[in-house]
Amino acid sequence: MDERVVDQNVQHDDSPFDRTLRPKSLSDYIGQPKVKDSLEIGMEAAKLRSEPLEHLLVYGPPGLGKTTLALVVGHEMDVPVKVTSGPAIERPGDLAAILTSLDENGILFIDEIHRLSRVVEEVLYPAIEDFAIDIVIGKGPTSRSLRLNLKPFTLIGATTRFAMVSAPLRDRFGSVHRLEFYDNDALKEILIRSAELLNLNFHDEGLYEIAMRSRGTPRVANRLLRRVRDFAEVKADGVITGEIANEALLRLEVDNLGLDNVDHKVLRAIIEKFNGGPVGIDTIAASISEEADTVMDVYEPYLMQVGFLERTSRGRLATSLAYKHLGLNDLRTTQSSKSPQLPLENLE
Ligand SMILES: Nc1ncnc2c1ncn2[C@@H]1O[C@H](COP(=O)(O)OP(=O)(O)O)[C@@H](O)[C@H]1O
Ligand SMILES: [Mg+2]
Repeated sequence: MDERVVDQNVQHDDSPFDRTLRPKSLSDYIGQPKVKDSLEIGMEAAKLRSEPLEHLLVYGPPGLGKTTLALVVGHEMDVPVKVTSGPAIERPGDLAAILTSLDENGILFIDEIHRLSRVVEEVLYPAIEDFAIDIVIGKGPTSRSLRLNLKPFTLIGATTRFAMVSAPLRDRFGSVHRLEFYDNDALKEILIRSAELLNLNFHDEGLYEIAMRSRGTPRVANRLLRRVRDFAEVKADGVITGEIANEALLRLEVDNLGLDNVDHKVLRAIIEKFNGGPVGIDTIAASISEEADTVMDVYEPYLMQVGFLERTSRGRLATSLAYKHLGLNDLRTTQSSKSPQLPLENLE
């Protein structure tokens, strides 16, 4: 599949841009007031006690600032952050090597922590509970276990899939933070900061046009800004006005809510092939030739956020708002207002 301009996941040309724009301090980290307030207090308290910050689990859809937050915490606590990810730690020994190399009160950031294997997770439990690991020496009946103490550290785990983090691991975090989609004002603030860092020439309305279509996601906002900048340079001497932003975004085929043709395909599949649902996630994924995981991680959260999709016990349901957005008639509403319990064909 082609790269989507509104993809919330990292794309190949995002990284140099990300490095320039990624906030370093908490004061540059825009939005997420609840998370920031609680972290601020936690960090202050830890500093006063000269202890590491309690272990944190951060979850939310891609592009909302999980990795950024971990690095910001490192900056604020003035400690190094070692970055790794669930799938990168293949064997228990790999994790043991990482744990023993951490600095005093330093941070270990494990991205996609729901993908850690069970055996690796077992090593993590005593590490985060007691700052120790148990090493088995020898094999068979003569083998014995040796406890090795670690320097105190903070684990920051990140995941897009909270439900897939095992309960014993979840319970060992001191605090769990859920990142929310950003509202348009917060996104605009992020865009102003980015535009200033990139020395762009802009009108506020131009950035607002971008904010509206950024799916509540800073990574998408920054990527759209880059595309609009290119368009403005070619068409308007580099000035990002409301009109220029609008035109650029129209060309990118992003609609006024930030939905692109893939989102439209998801909604249309549910509406046209399954009469609006409810329909299972695997069926939806198959009907648009996508992985169920991708649909769940990337498309679904935002479609739910804008109120176009509902998750029910029997599957996903397209809402009347979704029909309206696509310019389709929702015949279900007329039916259900006549017969709230039963669909028409069952009434005979
Ligand atoms: N709160 C924020 N304020 C400003 N920019 C942000 C914020 N959160 C994320 N960003 C921007 O979005 C990009 C993606 O964030 P990232 O932390 O990599 O997301 P995640 O790890 O959740 O996928 C970052 O490079 C940064 O430029
Ligand atoms: Mg990340």
